[in-house]
Amino acid sequence: MDKSEFKRRRQKLIDILGKESIAILPAAPEKIRNRDVHYPYHQDSYFYYLTGFPEPEALAVIVPHREQGQYLLFCREKDLEKETWHGNRAGLEGACEIYGADDAFPITDIDDIVPGIMESCRRLYYPMGYYQDFDEKMMEWVNQLRGYVRKGVVPPHEIVALDYVLDEMRLRKTEVEVDAIRAAAKIIIHAHKRAMQYCRPGLYEYELEAEIVHELLRSGCRSPAFPAIVAGGKNACTLHYIENDNVLNDGELVLIDAGAELNHYASDITRTFPINGHFTDEQKAIYELVLKAQRAALNKIYPGNKWIEVYQAAIKVVTQGLLELGLLMGKLEPLIEEEAYKRFYMHRIGHWLGMDVHDGGNYKVDETWRDLEPGMVLTVEPGIYISAADDISDKWWNIGIRIEDDILVTKGGHEVLTADLPKTVAEIEAFMAGE
Ligand code: GLY
Ligand code: MN
Ligand code: MN
Repeated sequence: MDKSEFKRRRQKLIDILGKESIAILPAAPEKIRNRDVHYPYHQDSYFYYLTGFPEPEALAVIVPHREQGQYLLFCREKDLEKETWHGNRAGLEGACEIYGADDAFPITDIDDIVPGIMESCRRLYYPMGYYQDFDEKMMEWVNQLRGYVRKGVVPPHEIVALDYVLDEMRLRKTEVEVDAIRAAAKIIIHAHKRAMQYCRPGLYEYELEAEIVHELLRSGCRSPAFPAIVAGGKNACTLHYIENDNVLNDGELVLIDAGAELNHYASDITRTFPINGHFTDEQKAIYELVLKAQRAALNKIYPGNKWIEVYQAAIKVVTQGLLELGLLMGKLEPLIEEEAYKRFYMHRIGHWLGMDVHDGGNYKVDETWRDLEPGMVLTVEPGIYISAADDISDKWWNIGIRIEDDILVTKGGHEVLTADLPKTVAEIEAFMAGE
């Protein structure tokens, strides 16, 4: 991503912070190493969003009123011996030249420098509650300044959650960000197609997961956006099933929920399809109902409409459909009122999507459900899961279906970023038959 995008974000934050404020943001800590094993480092999303800086042991400090420069980056110094073992470091020069910091200092100097800068600020913004060491460091610095009040020092006395501010910024994607999500979407579409084509009875769930992971790695993703769910038959009724170690049986469905992470942006798609390539009548009935619910939900995605209406549209279709199939008894409105659908559709309609799969950002503002705005990206993922039970005809048992796509809210409505993947019964059957 171009340097200018990070600069634009920092400038926007500076405008929000106003004078007399300071924002402090830490890089993610490194994972504890298991003896000599080094795990891939994953930068903190908030930190990366503002800096684009990929290294651990770093701290970004933004001070809107600092005349010598508003953006300070504390990071590791160059060290040729360490770099021989662990790879290149930007160093202080690189922090300024490559990553656009106005000033850079060694990370070892934070205690000497940061409290002195905080001294002139009434408002302290930092992401609260993510890293215990960092939280403690913040309080240590504030307390240190409190010790100097008789010298006339005024420590920050408004402490604000920076994560909240950044979540609001991240909620509305720029074109560059949407392109990044598109790229991650394209890869997971290929991965799903690969799994669909490879699928046949007798394989193990992890063999389909391997197809997914293979496609991600060969496309430049260093990791999935989250551990893939590959759930055959009744396993699909366990919402967070990630064991992926059962055999795929003829006549059953398999649900795959998988996402790619590319350049710090995520995609997230679920498809459910027949292991042998052909839906049974019961599977088809439930599948078409979930698809109908997803379509109804998608129709509610346009600027100015409320996020909750997307969910309510899906609930209504699911409840009506379950009534028609005899899986619920009663009248539509009371069943919706008493949330009877939750026996079969127990999760919500979706979530914001961006750098994180479940991206930050509140769903309610001032106690009312949020309006959708152009640039927001969300998933729409209704599902129906029917576990075996005495009061349900066994023809429905163990059918678990979810259909999930990634949606951009546009000025004129919405765009399905993951449209290029078979979804209807006919499309899936034709694709699996190699047509
Ligand atoms: N796999 C996580 C989700 O769909 O939200
Ligand atoms: Mn998902
Ligand atoms: Mn999702």
